[in-house]
Amino acid sequence: MARVRIHGGNPLHGDVTVSGSKNASLPLLAAALLIEGQSIIENVPRIDDIDAMIHMLRSLGAKCEFIDSSALSIDAADIKSLSAPYDLVRKMRGSFYVAGALLGRFGEAEVPLPGGCVIGSRPVDFHLNGFKALGAVVQERHGVMRAQAEKLTGAHIYMDSRYRSVGATVNVMLAATLADGVTVIENASREPEVLCCQQFLEDAGADIRGIGTDILVIRGVEKLDGQRFRSIPDRMEAGTFLMATGAARGDVTVHSVEPRHMTTVLEVLRAAGLQVDVDTDSVRVRSEGRPRAFEVTTAPYPGFPTDLQPNASVLGAVAVGTTVIEETIFDARFNYVDELNRMGSDIQLKDSVAIIRGVPKLYGAPVEATDIRAGSALVIAGLAADGYTEISGAEFLARGYENLEGKLQGLGAVIESARNAEDDKARNAWNR
Ligand code: EPU
Repeated sequence: MARVRIHGGNPLHGDVTVSGSKNASLPLLAAALLIEGQSIIENVPRIDDIDAMIHMLRSLGAKCEFIDSSALSIDAADIKSLSAPYDLVRKMRGSFYVAGALLGRFGEAEVPLPGGCVIGSRPVDFHLNGFKALGAVVQERHGVMRAQAEKLTGAHIYMDSRYRSVGATVNVMLAATLADGVTVIENASREPEVLCCQQFLEDAGADIRGIGTDILVIRGVEKLDGQRFRSIPDRMEAGTFLMATGAARGDVTVHSVEPRHMTTVLEVLRAAGLQVDVDTDSVRVRSEGRPRAFEVTTAPYPGFPTDLQPNASVLGAVAVGTTVIEETIFDARFNYVDELNRMGSDIQLKDSVAIIRGVPKLYGAPVEATDIRAGSALVIAGLAADGYTEISGAEFLARGYENLEGKLQGLGAVIESARNAEDDKARNAWNR
């Protein structure tokens, strides 16, 4: 298990640049499968989830190659397999997007069901209902979904009213782009990552109305054309640096961000008493003392993102007063709380609400990350804490954050990877 070691207590100072968005790039990679030719996607983050998606595309026959540090060329002219390997879907739910793209282009897809994961049950029933509405015959056997249609036909689809689903919106949209006739998707997600995919498809020749709204009208087209397209910045990575500066204190400017994607997050930082200055594509945050307590409820965009909820908890953990955070998207997204409490925070859970009584100090401890965002929350806690923190399960960080350690080191943090048995020796030396 990969580990990260942090010696906390140093304020963060300086400038940091965010990478392209993981959750926007994953749909773009799948969308490239709809195109019989080459797509070039710029600003793709170099992270393990993208590597897994590239493996997935290659296993289907697409040619994928980075042509510079973040521009990925995908040539899907010659797709040989319509069956996605189990181990890749199991590793990373985002790879389920290939279902909509394969079904949309070839009328057939065989993709293992991704199953639950540590942040909650995460079913794919909305995706499958959408495929069925478009006329596909969908079967689930032995954990594998098989979808088939002579030709998909446009339909009126009302996405489930309990949740707006990012994944189902993308998957059904991918399937509908080349379908016969008009598809209307109501209660669609409006996340910037979804909008990014809509723009990619539109630039490639898709006919999509209502881009960025919750009602999409997709008129199927014959084919899409290859193009060069730039993915959006990662608003979750940006949020992590901003929250880290709030919790560990300091003065940091985060560059290459899209501030209008972050309105609610910036509101929360200001409510926590941080000084936030916004420029065209950067955000500067300053924090000298302890933050103030605040209240947050996660919600679909433009609400506060569930992916930054664990980071916000750490800010609340060191704030003056009692912070209240309600999680409304995933039923098990507080799984990091016990670990944080081992570092001295005072967080009590009541169903989907965390009551966080701020403490003056966190203390370093050995802790374990169980998902990507729990991992970054523990990193922030380690940066804010007195002493030494060792985070196991750090492979989750590599799944979602490009060079997180290097970027934090650039801000003055004392953080490094610890991947082998020599670590204990080094750790003891460090503690002396
Ligand atoms: N849901 C269903 N049935 C479905 C689909 C979703 O009940 O068929 C429920 C989910 O269980 C959840 C809610 O709907 O309670 C919303 O889930 P959504 O489908 O929007 O999530 P997702 O598409 O599986 C993406 C991101 C997540 C992010 C969520 C919410 C990717 C690859 N993943 O997941 O990101 O938390 O949207 O914004 O885009 C992460 O990056 O760490 C991460 C988990």
